[in-house]
This record gives sequence, structure tokens and C-alpha cells, in this order.
Amino acid sequence: MASASNNFLISLVVVVAAAALASGASAQLSSTFYDTSCPNALSTIRTAVNAAVAQEARMGASLLRLHFHDCFVQGCDASVLLNDTNGGEQNAIPNAGSLRGFGVIDNIKAQLEALCPQTVSCADILTVAARDSVVALGGPSWTVPLGRRDSTNSNATGANSDLPPPSFNLDQLINSFGNNNKNLTVTDMVALSGAHTIGQARCTTFRDHLGEANINSTFAASLRTSCPAAQSTSTDNNLAPLDVTTPNTFDNAYYSNLLSQRGLLHSDQELFNNGSTDSIVRNFASNAAAFTSAFATAMVKMGNLQPLTGTQGQIRRNCWRVNS
Ligand code: HEM
Ligand SMILES: *[C@@H]1O[C@H](CO)[C@@H](O)[C@H](O)[C@H]1NC(C)=O
Ligand SMILES: *[C@@H]1O[C@H](CO)[C@@H](O)[C@H](O)[C@H]1NC(C)=O
Ligand SMILES: *[C@@H]1O[C@H](CO)[C@@H](O)[C@H](O)[C@H]1NC(C)=O
Ligand SMILES: *[C@@H]1O[C@H](CO)[C@@H](O)[C@H](O)[C@H]1NC(C)=O
Ligand SMILES: *[C@@H]1O[C@H](CO)[C@@H](O)[C@H](O)[C@H]1NC(C)=O
Repeated sequence: MASASNNFLISLVVVVAAAALASGASAQLSSTFYDTSCPNALSTIRTAVNAAVAQEARMGASLLRLHFHDCFVQGCDASVLLNDTNGGEQNAIPNAGSLRGFGVIDNIKAQLEALCPQTVSCADILTVAARDSVVALGGPSWTVPLGRRDSTNSNATGANSDLPPPSFNLDQLINSFGNNNKNLTVTDMVALSGAHTIGQARCTTFRDHLGEANINSTFAASLRTSCPAAQSTSTDNNLAPLDVTTPNTFDNAYYSNLLSQRGLLHSDQELFNNGSTDSIVRNFASNAAAFTSAFATAMVKMGNLQPLTGTQGQIRRNCWRVNS
């Protein structure tokens, strides 16, 4: 029979092992991963992202969203970039007709294959491009852990179940970010939603919200001209900025908009709707540094979700298909 102290030791080992598992995979990532194998990888990505954003500011938003949609579905493994028509994530409801930026990633990948063949993963390119997009639009910078590898599959079912739709209420949003695959905190969720300080959404994603009680009536009326209440394929794809005040600047205006009930999506306004996250929204609206710091922290956590490392997966030669 084991003694009490042995039981204590066994429990201790179990706890330490569990803690190592919980943080395990991301501990294998390192910001210096390509320093010897592809020293110009990061500058190549940055130059290409800056050029793409200079040409079209919205591209920065699109690249940031691509990374989010990658990481939330079986981890940050570039599964979202595989364009297989048979059950791939690009065909899932949150993604179809909505995701953009693939050409920018393909272009970066082609440059990196010429520089250092089969060395830099598509998953890492996406992660770095998301950070560089935020910087290019005036937001914070942070150090990106690297060494992710690419998946050999893409899962539309997973995308449909793991990506939060704009119809979610606060509890559903908290659960979507905080479930056991993700472990993101409520503050992480509110900070990451601040990504909606840039980019645009289609009428079909905010039409219903325009008729809700918790929207600024002036704001709703101005949106109704291009997004009328009656559902119609001729207006479904009309765009509106997610941040009505500074649509192409990565700042904290998203939160000030929520204070004046000018969130574009139902899910946006849920963060400030007399609920438990009101105080976080007020803090981020009044304290830009609190927001940028929380955003950077949460982006690193999101970027570390379930990476493939070591000999898992592969380094794709083309981001849009598995190596043959
Ligand atoms: C909190 C839950 C979230 C919901 C319900 C949500 C939902 C949406 C929806 C419906 C759109 C418009 C898509 C379209 O009409 O084509 C959108 C756009 C966008 N989302 Fe989110 N999102 C969430 C969180 C995030 C996060 C965590 C990020 C990144 C960290 C993000 C980044 C973006 C960006 C940048 C755009 C604009 C993309 C563009 O202009 O191409 N979102 N989101
Ligand atoms: C999330 O937390 C739960 C409970 O602490 C843990 O069992 C799980 O392994 C964690 N998941 C990740 C991906 O860290
Ligand atoms: C996948 O993407 C590549 C590169 O953008 C393109 O050439 C190819 O036609 C696409 N295939 C499908 C099935 O969409
Ligand atoms: C795809 O995702 C669904 C939902 O998360 C999951 O049940 C299924 O096992 C996944 N399939 C593969 C092949 O990973
Ligand atoms: C509605 O938005 C305007 C700015 O467009 C603002 O001045 C006003 O205070 C807002 N109303 C409410 C109830 O927040
Ligand atoms: C919050 O509650 C106050 C007082 O009950 C009400 O006036 C206000 O409209 C509510 N705000 C939201 C966003 O529901």
C-alpha cells in the first residue's frame, strides 16, 4: 500500500505532467526558429504585407482574420489555406465568400520557397502576416513564437462548429473562446474582438442587428440604406466598416463605438450590453495601452493553439495544397 507521502509525490508528478501537457506544444515554438535556416524569412513577410496593405488597407484586416480562422479550427496549422473543394474549411459557412488574402500568402510563400525551400511553414507565414498587418495599420507589435508545421487536412465540419457566428450572445462567445481546446479568458475574448477595429462585414452578417433594441438609431438608419431589412441577394454582400469611426486604423475606437451602441455585429454589441464584460469594454475604450497590451498577449495565446511541431504534419511547398 502506498504511503501518504508517496501519494503526495505521485499527485505532484501528475499535476506537473498535466501542466506541461497543457502548455506543452507551444513550449516547442521559438521566436528564433528561422534565424539560421531562413534568416530573411521575417523581413520578407513584412515587406510583402506592407506592400499589400499599402495597396489596399483592408488587406491587413483580411490577413488578420485568416489567422484567427486558421487557429480556431484544429489549431494554427494553415488548414484554412487548403482549397480542397471536398469538405475543406474554405467551403464552411463562416468562410465561403468571405475570407480573403490567399493571394498575398501564396505570393509570400513563393518568395520564401525561392529563398529557403521547404523551410518556412504556411502556418508561421499566416501568424507573422497577422502581426505585421496589425503593425502596418498602426497597432501594437509583439514577438511571434515560430516553428509551427502545416496540416495535411482541412475540416469544414470543424470550421462550422468552432468558429463563432455573429448571432452569438455573450455566454456563447465566452464559451467559444474558453472551451478546453482554447482556454482563452474572457479578457482575451474581449481583446481579440477588438480586431474589429479594422475591416468590413457583409450586410448578411449584420442585417438582423440593425433591427435590434440595443443599436444607436442614427447609426442603424445610416446602414439601412445599403442594408435594407428585407433579405435580398442583391444587398447581402454590401459592405460596411466594422469600426465606423476609424475603419482603417488599428486603435481602440471599436470599444468607444460600443459605448455609443455602434457595434456593427450583434456579437460586437453583446460585449457592452449591461453584462459582465461592460467593465472590460470601458477600460479598453478609455485606456488604449490596456487594449494594445491585452490584444498582443491574446494574439500570442491564440497563435499558440494546438500547433503541429517536430515531425508532425509537413512544410507545404504550396500553401493551398498538400505536398504530393
Ligand atoms: C468574437 C467572435 C467573432 C465573431 C462572431 C466574428 C464575426 C465576424 C464576421 C461576421 C465578420 C464579417 C465577415 C463577412 O461579412 O464576410 C468578421 C470580420 C472580421 N473579423 Fe471577426 N469575428 C469574431 C472575432 C474575431 C477575431 C478574434 C478576430 C481576429 C483576431 C477577427 C477579425 C476580423 C476581421 C479583421 C474582420 C474583417 C475582415 C475583412 O475585412 O476582410 N474577428 N468577423
Ligand atoms: C485547457 O484547460 C483544461 C483544464 O485546465 C485542460 O484540461 C486542457 O488540457 C487545457 N487545454 C489546452 C489546449 O491547454
Ligand atoms: C487553389 O488555389 C490555387 C492558387 O490560388 C489555384 O491555382 C487553384 O485553381 C485553386 N484550386 C481550387 C480547386 O480552387
Ligand atoms: C472534423 O471536425 C469535427 C468537429 O470538430 C470532428 O468531430 C471530426 O473528428 C473532425 N474530422 C477530422 C478528420 O479531423
Ligand atoms: C449615437 O451615436 C451618436 C454618434 O453618431 C452619438 O452622438 C450618440 O450619443 C449615440 N447615442 C447613444 C444612445 O449612444
Ligand atoms: C442598460 O440598462 C439601462 C438601465 O436599465 C438602460 O437604460 C440601457 O438602455 C441598457 N443598455 C443596454 C445596452 O441594454
